Amino acid sequence: ERLRQLTVPLLGWYERNARELPWRETPANAYHVWISEIMLQQTRVAAVREYYARFLREFPTIEALAQGEEERLMKCWEGLGYYSRARNLQKAARQTMERFGGELPRTYEELTGLPGIGDYTAGAILSIAQGQRVPAVDGNVLRLAARIMDCDEDIADVKVRRRFRAWVEEALPPAERCGDYNQAMMDLGATVCLPNAEPMCLLCPGRDLCAGREAGRQSSLPVKAPK
Ligand code: ADE
Repeated sequence: ERLRQLTVPLLGWYERNARELPWRETPANAYHVWISEIMLQQTRVAAVREYYARFLREFPTIEALAQGEEERLMKCWEGLGYYSRARNLQKAARQTMERFGGELPRTYEELTGLPGIGDYTAGAILSIAQGQRVPAVDGNVLRLAARIMDCDEDIADVKVRRRFRAWVEEALPPAERCGDYNQAMMDLGATVCLPNAEPMCLLCPGRDLCAGREAGRQSSLPVKAPK
C-alpha cells in the first residue's frame, strides 16, 4: 500500500536532505545512538547537540558510565529534565557490564530488558547501529503514517499503534537501509510533515502518494484522543 510506495522516494529524499547530527557517524556506534535517542525522547535536537557532546566527553564508554559518580551524572543531565532517564542509563550501563561484557546486546528482547529501553529505542539502536531490519516508531512516524494512509483512528490506542507498527514493518527496505529509513521518517516528520496545520507538502517526497493530502485531511491527522 501507500506506505510501501513511500520507501524508495523517502530514501532518495534522505540522501539529499538528511540532517547532519553528531550521532550519525560511519561506522555507527551503538552506545552513541543509545545516548542520543534517550536524550531526544523529551528534548529537541537543537538542545540535545550540546548535552550529547558533553555527556560523551564525561562518559566516553559504557564502562565509564557504569562507574561514573552519581553527582557527575546528574550535573551532566542538569537542564535536560526527567532525571530518571539518566539514572536508567547508568543502571542499564551497569547491567550491560555484568551481563553482556560491556557491549549493548544485539537482540530486541535483551535490549528491551534493560532499564529505560523500550520498543522505540531498541528499534533505533538495532536499525541504526546494527543494521537490523526493525522499525523505530515514534510520534513523528505515527503522524507521517497516519497522513500517508489517511487513517483517522486514535493513535493513543495501543491496538492502533500496533497496526501502524505493522505497516511500517511491511514498508521497511532491506536491513542495511533500515537505519536510514527510520531516521528519514524522523527527519521528514521533524522538518516537512509538521504537526497541526503546518505540513510543507510541496517539499515532501510522498506528496503524490499521500492519501491524507489527497483527501485534504493532512492537517487534522493524526487523531489522538485525550486520555
Ligand atoms: N529524533 C529521535 N531520534 C532521532 C534521530 N536518530 N535522528 C533525528 N531525529 C531523531
